[in-house]
Amino acid sequence: MQDSFGRTIQYLRLSVTDLCNYRCIYCMPEEGVCKKSHADMLSIEEMTEIVRAAHQLGISKVRLTGGEPLVRKGIISLCRNIKAIDSGIELGITTNGSFLSTMASELKDAGVDRLNISLDSMHPETFSRITRGGDPKDVLCGIKAAQNAGFDNIKINTVLLKGINDKELYDFINLTKDHAIHVRFIELMPLGVAKSWDSSRFMTTAAIEGYLHNAELLRINGVARVYHLPDHKGTIGLICPMSNSFCPSCNKIRVTADGRLKPCLHSDQEIDLRGLQGEALTETIKNGILQKPENHRFGLTGASTARYMNEIGG
Ligand code: GTP
Ligand code: 5AD
Ligand code: SF4
Repeated sequence: MQDSFGRTIQYLRLSVTDLCNYRCIYCMPEEGVCKKSHADMLSIEEMTEIVRAAHQLGISKVRLTGGEPLVRKGIISLCRNIKAIDSGIELGITTNGSFLSTMASELKDAGVDRLNISLDSMHPETFSRITRGGDPKDVLCGIKAAQNAGFDNIKINTVLLKGINDKELYDFINLTKDHAIHVRFIELMPLGVAKSWDSSRFMTTAAIEGYLHNAELLRINGVARVYHLPDHKGTIGLICPMSNSFCPSCNKIRVTADGRLKPCLHSDQEIDLRGLQGEALTETIKNGILQKPENHRFGLTGASTARYMNEIGG
C-alpha cells in the first residue's frame, strides 16, 4: 500500500530479539542489555500473524533482524511459517554471521532467500575491540558455510568507524575481486550508543570514493549506491544515511521484538501491536503506515529514537 506521501511500502524489517552474542561498541552499552521477560516479547506465532497481516497490505519483502536473529529460539520455524504464508515473499536475514557455520544449511532449507552479514573488521584485534570479544574467524567461516549451503548474492555490511577500521577499507574492497560478494560501507548513524559519541568516529563514504574512480555505478538499490570495479566478481555499495538521505524512496516499516510498529527508524513514534489479531491487527498496521513521517530529522533537531540499535534491528 501507499503511505501519505505516495511511497509504496512493501518491506517489513522484523526484529526477532534484542539479544546478541556480541556487544558492538556503537550498538550496545558495555554492560549489555537486560533480558526482557518472555511475556514482553512477541512469540513466533505472533510474529507470523504480523507478517500475515502485513502481507495482506502489500508487504512482499521481509527481513529478520535483531539483536542477533540467530540466537532467537524458533527462528527456523518462523522462516518456515513466513514462506508458508506465501512462498513468493522475499525472505532475508541480517546477521552477525557467527552462527552460520552450524545454521546456514538449515536456514536455506527453511526458505531463507538472502543473507546480509555484518563484518566491521577482518583483523582479530580490531574485530575483538569492536564486538567486545568476538573472533572474525567465526564470521569468515560463517560466510563460507553460507556460500556452501547455496546462498548467493551475500552482502557484507561494514560500518565505517574513523580511526578504528578505516585502515581496512581496501581489504574489504579487495574481497569483491575474487568472490561474488557485495560489500556495503555504511555511514555510522547517531543512534543508540553512537548518539552520545562526538564527531571523531564518524566518517562519510567519501573515503571510499577514492578507490572507485574506474568503477561503474551499476544501480541505486534500496538504501545503497552500488559500484562495480573492472574484473571484480562482486560489487561495492555505499549506504549514506548521513550524507544523503534516502527518505524520499523509503519503502519500509519496522517491528521491534517487543511488538511495536515503528513507521520510521529515527522516530520515537511506536504503535503497540501486541494482543491484536485478524482485522484489528491489519487495520493498526495500515494506520501505522499512514502515519509514516516524510523524512528523518538528523541534524535538524538532533531528535531521534531513544532506543538502542539492537532493539530496532538497524
Ligand atoms: P537488502 O536491500 O534487502 O539487501 O537489505 P537492507 O540493506 O535493507 O538491510 P540491512 O539490514 O543489510 O541494512 C543495511 C544498513 O542500512 C543498516 O545499517 C541499516 O541500519 C541501514 N538502513 C536500512 N534501512 C534504513 C532506513 O530506513 N533508514 C536508515 N537511515 N538506515 C537504514
Ligand atoms: N549506524 C549505522 N549502522 C548501524 N548498525 C548498527 N548500529 C548502527 C549505527 N549506529 C548496522 C549493523 C548491521 C546493520 C543491521 O546495522 O552493523 O550491519
Ligand atoms: Fe550484535 Fe549487530 Fe549490535 Fe553488533 S551491531 S551488537 S552484532 S546486533
